[in-house]
Amino acid sequence: MTHVFHRHLRQTYPVAASARGITIRDAEGRDYLDASGGAAVSCLGHGHPDVIAAMHAQIDQLAYAHTSFFTSDVAEQLADHLVGSAPAGMDHVYFVSGGSEAVEAALKMARQYFVEIGQPQRTQFIARRQSYHGNTLGALAVGGNEWRRAPFAPILVPATHVAPCYPYREQRADETPEAYGLRLAAELEDAILAQGADRVIAFVAETVGGATAGVLVAVPGYFKAVREVCDRYGVLLILDEVMCGMGRTGTLHACEQEGVVPDLITVAKGLGGGYQPIGAVLAQGKIVDAMSQGSGFFQHGHTYLGHPVACAAALAVQQVIVRDGLLAQVRARGDTLAQLLHTAFDAHPHVGDIRGRGLFWGVELVQSRDDKTPFDPARRLHAVIKRAAMAEGLLVYPMGGTVDGRHGDHVLLAPPYISSEAELAQIVQRLGHAIDSAIAATAA
Ligand SMILES: Cc1ncc(COP(=O)(O)O)c(C=O)c1O
Repeated sequence: MTHVFHRHLRQTYPVAASARGITIRDAEGRDYLDASGGAAVSCLGHGHPDVIAAMHAQIDQLAYAHTSFFTSDVAEQLADHLVGSAPAGMDHVYFVSGGSEAVEAALKMARQYFVEIGQPQRTQFIARRQSYHGNTLGALAVGGNEWRRAPFAPILVPATHVAPCYPYREQRADETPEAYGLRLAAELEDAILAQGADRVIAFVAETVGGATAGVLVAVPGYFKAVREVCDRYGVLLILDEVMCGMGRTGTLHACEQEGVVPDLITVAKGLGGGYQPIGAVLAQGKIVDAMSQGSGFFQHGHTYLGHPVACAAALAVQQVIVRDGLLAQVRARGDTLAQLLHTAFDAHPHVGDIRGRGLFWGVELVQSRDDKTPFDPARRLHAVIKRAAMAEGLLVYPMGGTVDGRHGDHVLLAPPYISSEAELAQIVQRLGHAIDSAIAATAA
């Protein structure tokens, strides 16, 4: 009998006992290839000696000091490192302990910015359907995934949702990708005007839609058009890169490939690579200036902000990424993974779409490729694939509700940046077996 309040209360979990490289071993000695880094977390794999050494050294020197009394050398160094590689104008970093906390902080920063500059009438957020921004109430409110929101909807702050950029299903046959992107930007503009041109705080979007959408890469020009619409109405652009950022797509920030600079970026997962819980908000100077010249502080805070051991782990992870040229490696291995997925699944009768960038890939499953009909949600294909993959010794991150929060299944892959070509080949081979056996097992 367990006393841990587990995520699922009728499920028994294997015990993770040890991990090295891209493999996790359970207490019964079974090995699993970690092809999703948990939920796109373990970017350097497991047991990286440089990160572990940095954490040991930090614990010996200073494990904790509350940020209302002190700063720490390691938090200052990490902030310097992140600002040095951030998009133009992002000159401050607010450290938190995970992705949801980063999103909450960004939402409050955006709101307080407008209070500071004398626009307190701005109270509305706009985000996208099928997005995931975290499970705390503010993050859940802007998130656009219906089944996650439903039980809590009556207690969420209101937010408006526009369409995601989902070309596989929503780009019209007579539309170019560019025209589709402009249509979506026009929908955002209409949503802003419907709220009142001066009433919207921010548009919140994952630069590459991750967990709930199954890796949606924007069409060319979409984010540029979105940035222009935001600028036209003084609306801030918050890009949530908790999953797709910190190198996952082959550039440190996913927005670099979209040619836009947001006002706030949230990061987490790959920031600390799972070695410690850490997230951060990167903020444009104008937002910090408004607070420093106004009330003088950001009305927020948590006990573990800027935790020294978490900062030491993240600094080490980020230094390894630079030292070992891992962004270039993500791009190269990403090409390999794309090829492997296309070779394995282009002719598969139930793989409707293969999409991604860098080492961040989604495979969308369909009952019928011809009309893109999803599987009956009652089959819970995604959950069966997860179990079948574990039986194959493979960890992937499947999810249901890809299409509309209820219908649709996808499998998300986010292998560590250090994965070898041979490991990627093994991952795709095992995934093929898992998909086929799950479809057979759930057939009526
Ligand atoms: C884009 C995005 N934002 C926010 C979060 C929430 O992060 P956390 O689970 O660390 O609170 C996630 C987690 O999957 C995410 O993918």
